[in-house]
Amino acid sequence: MEHVSELDKFSGREIAREQAFSEIWSKEINNVFADVAYYYDRVNRAASLGMIDWFRRSFVSTIDLKPKQRVLDVCAGTNAVGIALLKKQPDLEVYAVDRSAEMQSVGQENAKARGFHIDSTITDVHTLPFPDNYFDVVTIQFASRHLRLIEVIREIKRVLKPGGHFYHSDMLRPSNKIVAKAYFAYLTACVSVVAWMFKSNQYALGCKKYFVDALKMFYSPEEMSQLLFDQGFTTVTSKSLLGGVVGSHKALSAA
Ligand SMILES: C[S@@+](CC[C@H](N)C(=O)[O-])C[C@H]1O[C@@H](n2cnc3c(N)ncnc32)[C@H](O)[C@@H]1O
Repeated sequence: MEHVSELDKFSGREIAREQAFSEIWSKEINNVFADVAYYYDRVNRAASLGMIDWFRRSFVSTIDLKPKQRVLDVCAGTNAVGIALLKKQPDLEVYAVDRSAEMQSVGQENAKARGFHIDSTITDVHTLPFPDNYFDVVTIQFASRHLRLIEVIREIKRVLKPGGHFYHSDMLRPSNKIVAKAYFAYLTACVSVVAWMFKSNQYALGCKKYFVDALKMFYSPEEMSQLLFDQGFTTVTSKSLLGGVVGSHKALSAA
C-alpha cells in the first residue's frame, strides 16, 4: 500500500480546496462580505441561533495577554476579536488586516464607538505586510476556511516573535460522521433561511452551497492540531464546542 504522510495529506487537501473554491475565494466571497458588512453581526447571531457570543467568549478566554503586547487579528472583519481583546487588556497595540474595506469600515466604527484604536490594513492576507518577528500574538477567527490555509499559517509564523502565540478559531468539520451529517443538514437549511431573512444579494445567494461545501472539505479539530504541528508550532492545545462544530487552537512558536 502506498504511504501517504500527514504532510502530503494536508498539502493534497489544500490543493483540492483551492481547485474547488479558487474562483469563489478570489471574486465572489469579497462581494458577499461587502454586501453583508453592515448587518454581519446580526447575520451571525441569527445563523448561530444566538450562540456566536458564546463561541467568541470561549475563544477569547483561551487568549493569554500581557500589558502592551502587539497583537495582529487576521481577517479581522468588523473587529469583534480586536475589541474583545482590548476590553481584556486595554493597553494592547492591536492591528487588523482584512481584504474587505466595507467590513473594516464597520470595524473601525465599532472600535471607535468603544473608545479603542485598532490599526487597519486592507489587503489579502496570503501576504502579510509586516516584518518578521513583529507580533507577540496573532489571532484569526471564522475565516480560515476561506483561505489557502497553509500559506497563511506560514505568513503568521513569520510575523510572530519567537515565543509568540497563534490563536485559531473557526467552524470545523466534526470528526464524528453522525454529528457531521446532522450539522451539514442544519447548515444547508440555515444558509437558505438566513439568505431569505436578510434579503441577500446575488453574490450571497450564489455562495449558499459553497458555505457548506467549504466545511465538508475543511479540517477536523484533530487535523487542525496536526497541521499546526507540521507548520512548526511546538505546543498546540485545542478546545472543541458542540462536538467539534467549532474549535479553537492555541499554538506556540518556539523561542
Ligand atoms: C466570516 S468573516 C470573519 C470576521 C471576523 N474574524 C469575525 O470573527 O467576525 C471573514 C473575513 O475574512 C475576510 N477575508 C476572506 N478572505 C480573505 C483574504 N484572502 N484576505 C483578507 N481577508 C479575507 C473577509 O473579508 C471577512 O471580513
